[in-house]
Order: sequence, then C-alpha cells, then structure tokens
Amino acid sequence: MFSVATEGLTRKFNSFTAVDHLNLQIGEGEVFGLLGPNGAGKTTTLRMLACLISPTEGSATVAGYNIQQEPLKVRQSVGILTENPSLYERLTAFENMNFFAEAYGITDKAQRHARIKELLDFFLLWDRRNSKVATFSKGMKQKLAIARAIVHQPQLLFLDEPSSGLDPASAKEIRDLMKMLSQHEKRTILLCTHHLEDADKLCNRVLIMNKGRCVVVGTPDELRAKITEHPTVKVDLETVNPQIVAAAEALSQAQEVTIDPQEPSLLVKVENSRSATPQLVEAIVQAKGKILSVNTMKPSLEEAYLKLIKEEEQ
Ligand SMILES: Nc1ncnc2c1ncn2[C@@H]1O[C@H](COP(=O)(O)OP(=O)(O)OP(=O)(O)O)[C@@H](O)[C@H]1O
Ligand SMILES: [Mg+2]
Repeated sequence: MFSVATEGLTRKFNSFTAVDHLNLQIGEGEVFGLLGPNGAGKTTTLRMLACLISPTEGSATVAGYNIQQEPLKVRQSVGILTENPSLYERLTAFENMNFFAEAYGITDKAQRHARIKELLDFFLLWDRRNSKVATFSKGMKQKLAIARAIVHQPQLLFLDEPSSGLDPASAKEIRDLMKMLSQHEKRTILLCTHHLEDADKLCNRVLIMNKGRCVVVGTPDELRAKITEHPTVKVDLETVNPQIVAAAEALSQAQEVTIDPQEPSLLVKVENSRSATPQLVEAIVQAKGKILSVNTMKPSLEEAYLKLIKEEEQ
C-alpha cells in the first residue's frame, strides 16, 4: 500500500494553475523529496495532502484515506511543518506543545508531559520550556515547530523546508531525526527542500516539479544518470607522465583521457566504472604510476536538477 498516492491532483487559484495534474506515489517508510524552483507548486501540493486546502480537480489518498472524504483521519495521520510555522508567540514553548498535544488527542496529562519532555530534550529546548516563543530565535522556533509536528507520532510527516534558519549542527540533527523516523520507525516523510545536498543524502526518491507539473521522478542516482552518458574515473597520482597517460589510453574501455595537472590526476571517461576501474588501476601501476586515490565521479544532484529543469523549459 502507498502512504501517499495522487491522481491528477490539481489546484487552481482563479485561472492560475499552481498544481497541474500531479501523479505521485510514495511508499511506506520512504523519504520522498519534492524539489523545484520558487513557485513550482510544492507547498500547494503539501497543503492539499495535509487537507489544509482542497484540490480543484483530481484526488489523493494519504495513509489510505481519501483527502476529500476523510480529512479528519488524514489530519490525525499527518504531522506537518509549514513554511511559516504558526506558533503561539505569547505562550511558552511548553504551553505551545501542551496545547497541540491535547488538540491531537493525547488526553492523559502524564503521558503528554513525558512526550513533551522527550521532544524538548531532543531539540535542546527543555531548559527554555518556560520562555515565551516570542523571545525565541528563528532556529529555536523552527525546532519547536518540528517538535510540535511530531508530538502525536504521526505515520506521515510533511516537512516544508525544515532546515531553513537552522545552524549546521541543528540542520544535521534534523537530518538524523528524519533518518531515524524513516528507517527505524517506518514513518513516511515528504520533504520540500531547496537544499539539494540534503535531498541527495536523505531521499529514496525525488520528484522535480516546475510550473505545477512533474518534470521527472526517480532516485537521485537515476536523475544523475539522465544527465551523464558516461561515468568518469578520477585517479589521483603522485605525478603524471606520458607513459601513464599512454597506459590509460591503451585500455579498450577508456573513451577519453584527460589530465588535471594541478592535482595531479587522470580523468578517464569509461562505459562502466565497475569493470573499468580495476583494469585502469592495474595499467597505471604497471606504468609505474603511484596512485594516491581512485574515485568515480558522479554529478551532484544539483547539476542534474539544473540541467533537467533547463531541458524542460526549452
Ligand atoms: N493562496 C494563493 N492564492 C493565489 N496564488 C497562490 C496561493 N498559494 C499559492 N499560489 C501560487 O501558486 C504557485 C505555487 O506556489 P507554492 O507556494 O506552491 O510554490 P513553492 O513550490 O512552494 O515555491 P517556494 O519554493 O518559493 O516555496 C505560485 O505562483 C503562487 O503564487
Ligand atoms: Mg514553498
């Protein structure tokens, strides 16, 4: 069963189509990234799936519930971090958490307090539990909003730019939390982000959207494969000399050999890096090359993203 499945999901604002017949499926326990330029329709998609706004066309199920027929069930199954987390500024951190925990049906006071302590401890906010949220920094508010989103232990988590405003250590905490929730607790995470390195590290699959439509969907590796025909093996050497270059060029698998004199290293374009690398290493060693390291170079998800968006615009 899918955690999220949409069919022709569409949202218009007057005559403007923000989300245009979107089809996506997210499996249980998957971390699914929604990427795309500003205004692509990511937040609008998330808001429809969390039943904060309704679609103008199409349908979706979330945790097995139809978003139009059973919005209450959907809301109970989902924790959401919105772009501008609306916390009650005049209440303390603890009061905010308590309010939402109660609203989400954690009626037992001791249980509620234990859960709040666990989360505020995790986010290093317990000491500040009695401070008004208005006095919090942006990052502290963001952490509190994430804590609030997961207070009822939802099966699904929708996160809109969770690391925005967080320092590097806090951003890593959030990444680790997402990993833990998906891998150990099999929670499904739908993540909107502009942070492509995060998406690459975290997401099982990503969907790039533009102007409300799906441009491409796949694993980060599949997206990379779409933009590069051939992998490149980079061999860092103590020194590069003509014998070494000739030895690399003599290999049938080597399609193109270039030298980076700065490093120094050899860049060898190959059909298949798995089968070519051992041969290449052997040839270089025989030519008396001193190898310092060998790496298969992959384009970054960012490069793939930029190229795929550009192709789509043309
Ligand atoms: N309530 C609304 N009324 C009118 N237009 C809206 C509304 N909400 C969103 N839109 C429009 O829909 C489009 C998609 O917006 P959305 O917020 O979903 O983009 P996004 O992909 O989340 O962008 P960003 O990366 O900047 O957060 C934008 O053109 C936006 O102006
Ligand atoms: Mg957005």
